[in-house]
Parts: sequence; C-alpha cells; structure tokens
Amino acid sequence: MVLKLNKKKALKEMTKRHFVTYTNPGSEIAEQYRTIRTNIQFSSIDEKYKTMIITSPSSSEGKTTAAINLAISISQQGERVLLIDANLRKPKLHFSFNLKDYHGLTDVLIGRVGLEEAIFQTQIGKLDLLTSGIIPSNPTEIIGSEAMKFLLKDIKEEYDTVIFDSPPVLETTDTKLLAGLCDGVVMVVKSGKTDREKIVEANRLLKLVRAKVLGVILNERS
Ligand SMILES: Nc1ncnc2c1ncn2[C@@H]1O[C@H](COP(=O)(O)OP(=O)(O)O)[C@@H](O)[C@H]1O
Ligand SMILES: [Mg+2]
Repeated sequence: MVLKLNKKKALKEMTKRHFVTYTNPGSEIAEQYRTIRTNIQFSSIDEKYKTMIITSPSSSEGKTTAAINLAISISQQGERVLLIDANLRKPKLHFSFNLKDYHGLTDVLIGRVGLEEAIFQTQIGKLDLLTSGIIPSNPTEIIGSEAMKFLLKDIKEEYDTVIFDSPPVLETTDTKLLAGLCDGVVMVVKSGKTDREKIVEANRLLKLVRAKVLGVILNERS
C-alpha cells in the first residue's frame, strides 16, 4: 500500500516536471524553453523548420521532457503544434498525458484508424498529440515506410510545427530514418553525464542522413 502511494506521488511529480512550461510559465526553465524556441525560430528565417525531431545519443537524457516542453512553448505563441511519439520501442507520451490505450501513430500507419480519430487535443493552447499507438514488432520498417512519408505530408498541411519524440540515436535506426525526413534535429545531452564521444558519434550518424542539427539542449539535472 505504501509503495503504491509513493509510486502515485512519484508519477505526479514526474508529470509536473514534464509540463513545467505549462504549469509554471514564469519559471526559469520555462524561460529557457522560450529561448530555445526563439533560437530555433531565428535560425530558420529563410526556411521554416516545420518538422523537428528531439533526440539524444542515449536513453534517459531528457528527450521526452524536452519534446513536451518545447511543443508547449511553441503552442503558447498561438501556433498549431502536433507532438508525436515516434519512440515506438519505449513510448512515454501517452503516459505523461495520462492516456490509456489511445490510438496512435502505428494505428494510423497500418490503416486501423484515420489521423483525425487518433489525434488527441490536449487543451493546452493548440497543442495536439499523436501517441505511439500499439507497439509494433518492426518499428524500423514502420518509421521508414512510404506510409510514414505520406502521413508527414498530410500532417504538415494541418500544423504549423510538428515535434517528434524519438528513441536514442545510438540505439536504433528509427531515429536516423526520421531525422532524414524532418527539417531539423534538436539534440538533448545530459550535462556532465553524456560522453563526448557519444555526442560526436550521434552527430556523425545524423550527418550521414543529411539531418540538420539545429541545436543542443544541455539538460542540467539537479
Ligand atoms: N532537467 C531535469 N531535472 C530533473 N529531472 C529530469 C530533468 N530532465 C529529465 N528528468 C527526468 O529524467 C527522467 C528521464 O527523462 P526523459 O525526458 O523521459 O528522458 P528520455 O526521453 O531521454 O529517456 C524522467 O523521469 C524525467 O522526469
Ligand atoms: Mg523518452
């Protein structure tokens, strides 16, 4: 029983941290996300970076947290933003938004449901969410499919900005495939923890698919 309560509390804390730009827009962290947002927007004066993937060399470096907060921060400017959980191995966004068994990306890609049916309107500005959907046995094929390219084309017509949460670059091929389809990549690294060599290798792999690394978020963990 005690364990259950603690778990519940931990979950609440985690969700709070994930949504800090929404729950505490005056905080220093929210301000930092606004700076990141501005930097991205300034670096894309000539061509708008409409589709962005948030990734990191390894796991637990803050990708999901950064994806959520960046999406919220951009939506706070009045943009129509779609946040997509493209981590088909360890999806987390349905969990952060408290959604159970929600249709998602994989369901749309295999034609089980239409895009409109799968999209969840978060009520945070114009931020919509597309969860991962059922975890497939062949995530790389799904991400690299023609259906994914067509879907992205449709989505780009409906939204101003599309943000993908993703698996670590060094652990899967999915991220590289997706990075090749997106306008830009935002890399998250854990301050003082992520090895330099891993950052260099992740960058090299992303360059191979001609991905444009827009910037690096140095995630400080206290
Ligand atoms: N700046 C931070 N300070 C404290 N905890 C953080 C911070 N960034 C992420 N976390 C926590 O670290 C864990 C992993 O973060 P997450 O965003 O899920 O990483 P990833 O998606 O890279 O696996 C989560 O529990 C998250 O709440
Ligand atoms: Mg994650």
